[in-house]
Amino acid sequence: MQNNHRPEDMQRITTAALAEAFIDEQIKLLKEQIGGKKVLLALSGGVDSSVVAALLIKAVGKQLVCVHVNHGLLRKGEPEQVVRVFREELGANLIYVDAVDRFLDKLEGVADPEKKRKIIGAEFIRVFEEEARKLDDIEFLAQGTIYPDILESGPVKAHHNVGGLPDDLKFELVEPIKFLYKDEVRVVGKALGLPDGMVYRQPFPGPGLGVRCVGAITCDRLEALREADAIVREEIEKLDQTPWQYFCAIPDVKSTGIKDGKRYMGWVVVIRTVNTVDAVTATVPEIPFKTLCTIRDRIIASVPGVNRVAWDISEKPVSTIEWE
Ligand code: XMP
Repeated sequence: MQNNHRPEDMQRITTAALAEAFIDEQIKLLKEQIGGKKVLLALSGGVDSSVVAALLIKAVGKQLVCVHVNHGLLRKGEPEQVVRVFREELGANLIYVDAVDRFLDKLEGVADPEKKRKIIGAEFIRVFEEEARKLDDIEFLAQGTIYPDILESGPVKAHHNVGGLPDDLKFELVEPIKFLYKDEVRVVGKALGLPDGMVYRQPFPGPGLGVRCVGAITCDRLEALREADAIVREEIEKLDQTPWQYFCAIPDVKSTGIKDGKRYMGWVVVIRTVNTVDAVTATVPEIPFKTLCTIRDRIIASVPGVNRVAWDISEKPVSTIEWE
């Protein structure tokens, strides 16, 4: 039976010194648990799986096999960052799987949000399973489970873990951060030397841009979303204080634009900016009008197919944070 209760006397990890002590202890425990065997990890590039990867690299080096599945629904630059940080800088044994076409084929014509989520989750497991089957002698599966996942306190992370593998691939689990809260994971990530872009990354749903490319996903609308999202992030990150979550969505509607004296139909980018403590309720912080205008101008000038930019000022409840 796994122990799933955070020890009562466990100190909150709030400083670099406490993080160092945690890291040393975990390295010792990971070495004891894994010995000379191999361990597999689905590395999304989110802070939790990245911290687990960095801990395991320190503990067992090349015995760790990371699998990064690019399902085409990641943000601009994310797959490249995972490869750069883990393979090139940390020397990880990293398998990069380009599954973009596979996911987009499966999602073609599917407009129902829950069906989209199911397809993305199921396909992810299938791709990961295929990679796992190509490998010999894997005995352990590492996961970035954190304490709120165990407490099931919120809807923030539903697709992170690779549960659902078939019975013959039931590896022993390795979950070195399962008693940590998110803020502690970040302190540990910082102490492990991970880049700030990974450590302080805003929450990003497992189905990624899939739930922000509203309705049936098409390649061109998805690309427009990825480009617009990169602009929104870049401009919002120039502010002294960034909202808890900031991104954009593109609904599956077109509206009229005018160019060279001719009317034409284009997409609407919707900017979403929210503050929240637990993602159960959310408010919309003020964003300087100048920033909104810069975002609008950059998107209109550089993102093909978009001719309108809106700012969603709806609060939760009644509106959810994501658009679907
Ligand atoms: P909602 O849209 O329900 O989102 O207000 C609350 C928080 O959860 C994130 N979210 C998801 N995370 N898989 C995830 O891992 C999902 O399907 C999903 N849907 C929403 C959302 O980004 C927000 O932080």
